Amino acid sequence: MTAIKRIDHVAVVVEDLEAALEFWQDALGLKLDHVEELADQDAVVAFLPAGDSEVELVRPISEESGIARFLAKRGPGVHHLCFEVDDIEAALGRLQRKRIRLVHDEPLTGSDGRRFAFIHPESAHGVLVELYELPSGQ
Ligand code: CO
Repeated sequence: MTAIKRIDHVAVVVEDLEAALEFWQDALGLKLDHVEELADQDAVVAFLPAGDSEVELVRPISEESGIARFLAKRGPGVHHLCFEVDDIEAALGRLQRKRIRLVHDEPLTGSDGRRFAFIHPESAHGVLVELYELPSGQ
């Protein structure tokens, strides 16, 4: 059976990255690893590692992205929780057999080669859940 390895990241949507860093970095004490513009997500993301996991502060840079719509509708806050799995196809197959609603029936491939898919919050008690598998050899 497929295994959940760890929480990879918790993504938090923010309106103002500088202001958000004043809390997450300066007040709470997480270290900022780097800030990166992710063109495929229409967002600027700040990565703040915390042990084996990290917090990702995500600020939309276009009005049309899913992140921007989320922010407009629900305001800033937790966007999704991401788990690393050892076998994403097996994980999605298992969920489909249990009639869990998925956002992506097949894994997508990110610009960095990682394969990922989202589980619909309707089936996850209000939480958007991301699963990803690292490309082999990493
Ligand atoms: Co994510």
